[in-house]
Amino acid sequence: MCGIVGYIGKEKNALNILINGLKALEYRGYDSAGIAYFNKNKIITIKEKGKIEELEKIIDYSIESNIGIAHTRWATCGDATKINAHPHSCGKITIVHNGIIENYDDLKEQVKKDNYKLISETDSEIIAVLLNKYYEEYNDIIKAIVKTKQIIKGSYAIAIICADIQDKIYAIRKDSPLIVAKNENASFIASDVPAILNYTNKYMILNENEIAILTNENIVFLNDSLQPIKKKILTFEGNTIDAQKGHFKHFMLKEIFEEKDIIKNLIKKYNTIEKLEKKLGFLTKYDNITIIGCGSAYHVGIIAKYLLEEYANIPVNVEIASEFRYKNNFLNKKSLAIFISQSGETADTLASLRKIKIKSVDTLGIINVQESSIAREADKVIYTEAGPEIAVATTKAFIAQLIIMILITIYLGYKNNIITRDLLIELLTNINNLDKYLNQILNNSYKEIAKKIYQAQNIFFLGRNIDYGIALEGSLKLKEISYIHSEAYPAGELKHGTISLIEENMPVISIITKDNIFDKTISNIKETKARGSFNIVISNKEVNDSDVNILIPNINSILQPILAIVILQIISYETANLKGCDIDKPRNLAKSVTVE
Ligand code: G6P
Repeated sequence: MCGIVGYIGKEKNALNILINGLKALEYRGYDSAGIAYFNKNKIITIKEKGKIEELEKIIDYSIESNIGIAHTRWATCGDATKINAHPHSCGKITIVHNGIIENYDDLKEQVKKDNYKLISETDSEIIAVLLNKYYEEYNDIIKAIVKTKQIIKGSYAIAIICADIQDKIYAIRKDSPLIVAKNENASFIASDVPAILNYTNKYMILNENEIAILTNENIVFLNDSLQPIKKKILTFEGNTIDAQKGHFKHFMLKEIFEEKDIIKNLIKKYNTIEKLEKKLGFLTKYDNITIIGCGSAYHVGIIAKYLLEEYANIPVNVEIASEFRYKNNFLNKKSLAIFISQSGETADTLASLRKIKIKSVDTLGIINVQESSIAREADKVIYTEAGPEIAVATTKAFIAQLIIMILITIYLGYKNNIITRDLLIELLTNINNLDKYLNQILNNSYKEIAKKIYQAQNIFFLGRNIDYGIALEGSLKLKEISYIHSEAYPAGELKHGTISLIEENMPVISIITKDNIFDKTISNIKETKARGSFNIVISNKEVNDSDVNILIPNINSILQPILAIVILQIISYETANLKGCDIDKPRNLAKSVTVE
């Protein structure tokens, strides 16, 4: 959600570096873009509504500059217009901002009394106004930043340039990510690592209450008391290839194809009882688990609830983070709160973690992005190690989260004497062999199924138990990228009202991987068929009542969700592809949702 890039270096190709950086952050989601750079001792700002290509149409790349800041905006306060796009300026100050300034209405009223005129509808412009006001007052940019930080409330990552200071970029942040990096020729800031990977794979995290001051020679970090501090240098383990499409038409497809290797690499770290003890041993002391997440991460929680309750005999509560943060909860010393997040920066999930930590409840993050806020703030972290995920709609990170939850389930099931040692070893072996089954799935074409559903207005996804969790994720994936309205329902619940929506030829996609409820789900499928639906069934046994039956390989039922969800990911992809949708960057969506 929004992207920031900043560059200051010896080379004078700032415009190129900034735009390429923004392109590497496109996956975060945006609807306008802009840059500000120094040229002939002046700050020049260029911005445009729409894609970065629109901005590029009005950029003259022959202009030389060695310092600039850039931004992609995902509209929150104010429409997606050129005027609301960043950078925003006031007097000598120009800024780009990610996050939300919650008290901006009050602040706007206050500065209007001082005759400041605001031209945009955004919350962000007030930051430039305040910085300029206090810069004029103190004639000291650091003092102006400190004062502004004291006044603004909300979340922010902010990059600042000042017309009087042509050799520095300043940055601050709170509840919104920002990394800082340096190579021998330049310094960079960015919302995420892909923006700087062409120049360096070493980076540092700017923490809350710190100020970063970048020059082309060095980066100085100041703490809350304005004392210089040393930073841990992190190394990005992936490579630039990870953030490129290769021969795939879309990142989403590439990421689906990466899933089998991600599972193979993950399982190497958990494939013996000894390794499980070492990595997951701490989990045995809890009586109950609450899983918190948003979007697909929440769906992993739903599937994990069914798994953990059945195979490990542990009560599990699953909460949507945006709800959890504003409600009562009953977690105690025997509870474990698990926070699932690809980005590790989702505002609601992070706020829920902070809420729980006040109660001294133990917390575990299941996170993809290394050193992200949730990864750093949770008591313990398990990394999903899926590599950078660029497509907005998650696929490989979801699968990696699910694998971790399956590993936790079978380990706790073994410790609680529900899963035998032999079964545990068999399951670990079968996880290792999932690549064979996934290859079978990836070798199939689901285009024919896509052709049957891509013109539908509405689609139902049905399942019971774990299969309901799969249905939820299948439905979300389809909605996100193909814009077809769909709803996931627990199969047995449909008849309590919603079945009234079934019409002739409406596609109903059902998932049946659990043997003990096979016949029950079939009965529900028959109920929809009797009302004219077109039934696509993904199952581990043949279903005569289906119009299309996709059979999944018959492995342990605990692992079948993995196979079913990959099939649904590909069906969503093919459907969106047929419709010609912008698959990697669906309208209105952001990959990393850093505002409430
Ligand atoms: C956004 C993304 C979803 C994702 C959700 C949670 O809405 O578009 O794909 O599931 O955020 O993100 P997280 O990074 O916390 O997993």
